[in-house]
Amino acid sequence: MRRANRKKAVEGRSVIFKIKRCDGPGKPSRWESFKVPVEQGGNVISSLKWIAANPITTEGTKTTPVVWDSGCLEEVCGACTMVINGRVRQSCSCLIDEYAPLEGDAITLEPMSKFPVIRDLWVDRARLFHNLTRVKAWVPIDGTYNMGAGPKETPEHQQMRYALSECMSCGCCLDACPQFTKVEDEEKWDTSFIGAHAISQARLFNEHGTGKLLKGDRYEELAGAGGVSDCGNAQNCVKVCPKGIPLTESIGAVGRGTTVHAIKQFFQGKE
Ligand code: SF4
Ligand code: SF4
Ligand code: FES
Repeated sequence: MRRANRKKAVEGRSVIFKIKRCDGPGKPSRWESFKVPVEQGGNVISSLKWIAANPITTEGTKTTPVVWDSGCLEEVCGACTMVINGRVRQSCSCLIDEYAPLEGDAITLEPMSKFPVIRDLWVDRARLFHNLTRVKAWVPIDGTYNMGAGPKETPEHQQMRYALSECMSCGCCLDACPQFTKVEDEEKWDTSFIGAHAISQARLFNEHGTGKLLKGDRYEELAGAGGVSDCGNAQNCVKVCPKGIPLTESIGAVGRGTTVHAIKQFFQGKE
């Protein structure tokens, strides 16, 4: 749950943005501060736009515009995720009135820590999407012939799956997870901890009438190196998920499913 700052926001104020900057992969980081006038209803993205148009630090030094990523601007795509005042979240939905209500209040912005920085606040989340392919997070459908009506599903089951389907692959749960570490070497992605995001998506597709055809493949991937047993149960993931996805429930369900699958395979002489 996000904690709103209850102080009444002062109109016409300026706030200080302290931004961790980096000119490119492998380059050193540095901090720069900017004094930004706050417009009514302003959020972090609108402040970053102001900085892009006025790239002058609080010391009066002209600098390069700060780079960030964004897409939907309504907390749906996850592209604008960054660390704001020490907590990972979406910047498009981060209101300045809540975070810096008084004249001179400061807001710190840092890139996510578990993904390589491309520049400034923009990170490369390719590993996150790769992890979805590890668990075959899709419904196998052959569109070349009519497969008939899909399987029936109860409203309760639909509701359960709907909650999981709200994931926007933002990466907050991965950035906050002590077990999910930054891995820049792509060769090691398939054996590094996959994280709560892909585990929960595996559950979503295992629960789909047609998606469950790939259940066995998903469980085998999640039983291997970097799979569900690497989770240390710290539960940071569920605390930071902006969509309130029951990630620890998913980890428990997938952990049990993986064990049952392994036992079945054993008795069928497949292991
Ligand atoms: S519960 Fe598991 S996946 Fe979630 S933060 Fe903890 S270690 Fe990471
Ligand atoms: S599970 Fe939540 S925190 Fe993790 S990627 Fe999906 S929406 Fe983001
Ligand atoms: S820009 Fe899409 S979630 Fe913020």
